[in-house]
Amino acid sequence: MSQKELSPGLEGVPVAESAISFIDGQNARLEYRGIAVETLARESCFEETAWLLLKGDLPTQKELAEFDDQLRHHRRIKYKLKDILKCLPENGHPMNAMQAGVAAIGMFYPARDVSDPKKNWESVVRIIAKLPTIVAAFHRLRYGDEAIQPRDDLDHAANFYYMLFEREPSPAVRKALDACLILHAEHTMNASTFCGRVTGSTLADPYTVVSAAIGTLTGPLHGGANERVLEMLKEIGTKENVRPWLEQAIAEKRKIMGLGHRVYKVKDPRATVLQELAERVFAETSRPALYDIAVELEKVAADKLGAKGIYPNVDFYSGIVYQALGIPSDLFTPIFAIARVAGWLAHWLEQLKNNRIYRPSQIYVGQRNRDYVPLEQRP
Ligand code: ACO
Repeated sequence: MSQKELSPGLEGVPVAESAISFIDGQNARLEYRGIAVETLARESCFEETAWLLLKGDLPTQKELAEFDDQLRHHRRIKYKLKDILKCLPENGHPMNAMQAGVAAIGMFYPARDVSDPKKNWESVVRIIAKLPTIVAAFHRLRYGDEAIQPRDDLDHAANFYYMLFEREPSPAVRKALDACLILHAEHTMNASTFCGRVTGSTLADPYTVVSAAIGTLTGPLHGGANERVLEMLKEIGTKENVRPWLEQAIAEKRKIMGLGHRVYKVKDPRATVLQELAERVFAETSRPALYDIAVELEKVAADKLGAKGIYPNVDFYSGIVYQALGIPSDLFTPIFAIARVAGWLAHWLEQLKNNRIYRPSQIYVGQRNRDYVPLEQRP
């Protein structure tokens, strides 16, 4: 098959057959393995959702208990890895520390042979279990604090919170964090997932796959947008300033962070759930002024950009929820990665089942058959 027409950003070009998640962008529908994400955010937990994504079905009680045990068992990271994290610049972004950390774990647990499903599963468990520990350790170490050992008696979300703050979350905070992990766990063929599949298609090891995907998630047009949303809301400053600020941004053709999506042409269903979560968290904390600015921005943007199908995406409210939980803004995207790793690895396993290396074509627009001019003859 030869495709002669370029589709910038591969818009509308299928790059794989996948049974992992489904989006109906006109009807605000996102399903993981056929189950609505809102239902999972309400009823499930991250561990169960990760299993669903990775294995295709909800786990039995025994399967979930064993998976949960395995995750708890593999949370610890080696002292040498902590030393590596300690040596990284404290002002560096935690996404880069996370990327380096995952690549380093791959050196401690070599997994070059990806033909053995049992070994692949061990890598999957190890990566999902250790990512929160890497992020929390880097966060503590960069402020000169000791990294906190994971606690086996806490679930994935609660343990991550504990490793950051050395205290357990309240039930409402734990539920909010767990639901955020579920909502970010998978999202069809987005940039980082595609990057992971491309890397996986070369039969690279899973640590390299995840490290590549983390790098892709870093950008402000993808996972990095949640951090930028808070900066933007701070810049807007007041509810009254929303309309003039937005009108000016539109006139200057600036992209409004947290709005718009390649697939959703209505409000992203995850943004709706996150907004509900935010309101529940504010019942415990106080309602931040930035939230009122965000609500107003959503309203005015619907008026100004709604006709183009530009509505809040997942990043619009996630930063506000994390901020209310006391999480520093440069950890927002790492939390996204801690969740999305389940989806990346589900895609990696799916890719390996029927692998063919990605090798797309291009439309060459450069010159041809040029002469080489020796250096001494050039000006
Ligand atoms: N603010 C203002 N206008 C926008 C926005 C926005 N956030 N998003 C899209 N548009 C406009 C574009 O200017 C363009 O208008 P035009 O046709 O008049 O030129 C039109 O909508 C189409 O925009 P594209 O950039 O071509 O859309 P694309 O599908 O390539 O990009 C993206 C999608 C990257 C998400 C874009 O909407 C964006 O940059 N949003 C802001 C960043 C953001 O929130 N990213 C997080 C996405 S969700 C995630 O990755 C987790």
